[in-house]
Amino acid sequence: MSNSNSHPLFKSHIEKATRFQLRKPTPNKTNWDTFYKLSSNENLMGASPKALAAVKQAIDGVYEYDHYDDFQFQDKLADYYKQEIKSGQFITANSGVEVLEIICRGLVSVGAECIVSSPTFSPYKNMIELEGGVVVDIPLSTPDYQLDIDEILNAVTEKTALVFITNPNNPTGTYIEKEKIDHLIEQLPDDVIVVYDEVYYHFVDADDFPYAIDYVKAGKPVIGLHTFSKIYGLAGLRIGYGFTTPEIGEYLNKIFRPFRIDTVSMAAAFAALEDEEHVNRSQKMVWEGKKWLYEKFEELGVEYLKSQGNFIMFKSPIPSLELTSNMLDEGVMIRPGDNFGAPGYIRLTIGTEAANKRFMDVFKHFLEK
Ligand SMILES: Cc1ncc(COP(=O)(O)O)c(C=O)c1O
Repeated sequence: MSNSNSHPLFKSHIEKATRFQLRKPTPNKTNWDTFYKLSSNENLMGASPKALAAVKQAIDGVYEYDHYDDFQFQDKLADYYKQEIKSGQFITANSGVEVLEIICRGLVSVGAECIVSSPTFSPYKNMIELEGGVVVDIPLSTPDYQLDIDEILNAVTEKTALVFITNPNNPTGTYIEKEKIDHLIEQLPDDVIVVYDEVYYHFVDADDFPYAIDYVKAGKPVIGLHTFSKIYGLAGLRIGYGFTTPEIGEYLNKIFRPFRIDTVSMAAAFAALEDEEHVNRSQKMVWEGKKWLYEKFEELGVEYLKSQGNFIMFKSPIPSLELTSNMLDEGVMIRPGDNFGAPGYIRLTIGTEAANKRFMDVFKHFLEK
């Protein structure tokens, strides 16, 4: 039912939903001698070279449909995971956010409650609301930005459908160790499904990090989320996937759209999965860059959070919007935490050595001003 003064076909929960904020376009990089986009957690090393070669080869075939797209992608992933997860347990889509959309479409009914922990990936809220779901925010506990497991368990009611866990979390970079996630999953009622967003898992170096695959293999009601946008460097191609139990997989795969996966993205993704060298080089870049940036922040007395992602959140010593705007003028694009519910903080993507150095030089310049 819609509001009395709007079109009778409009759904009231879609009318009421907060529209996801589109940001300003990336500035024209050619206006600067050097321009570094360190605001969206992309891979500054670029795309996997094997994926790029596959794109060039696939491009000539774009006039044709692929009649076996999702199935082929799911089969490929099952092989990649050595058949420990079977084909029908994957949910393949044109990006991680599309997997999230499929999850919400399939599992969030009008009035269903979904627990999220802010500050976190902001599109969850919008996708829940578009299905008529109710967002229940149990914020991360400060100052260490840890998941408040007791409060999450207290917030569960008979209306709870989904619990979103982002591990490592965006924008904080913090992670929740295995023991805590084991406890949470153990204590949740069986009919609540955990959406376990670990799109940054390649950058994790902590020994006690809990991987979604172990919960799925153990038959827990968990949906893991992966993307090709981060370490594989294919953000612009839009390709990602989820994986879950056979029961949930079979259900969510009914939400099917013919020819959902585009042929070029799929060719790139398949090649990227084989490109271990690119993964290793990208991990090395991030881990070395992280160490260097930590040292520099410490020298400057800037507060930052230890990260398990390819980004670092730090407290801006001067008003955060002023700093991001000044730095953009100098060709260094970083993201204020305000949009994520972390005002006063800034999220910085860890880049190449040159990018990190340029960030630090310009940052210091504005601190000393
Ligand atoms: C936590 C988290 N989840 C999901 C995504 C979605 O990634 P994509 O839609 O590019 O696959 C992102 C992208 O930044 C993210 O940070």
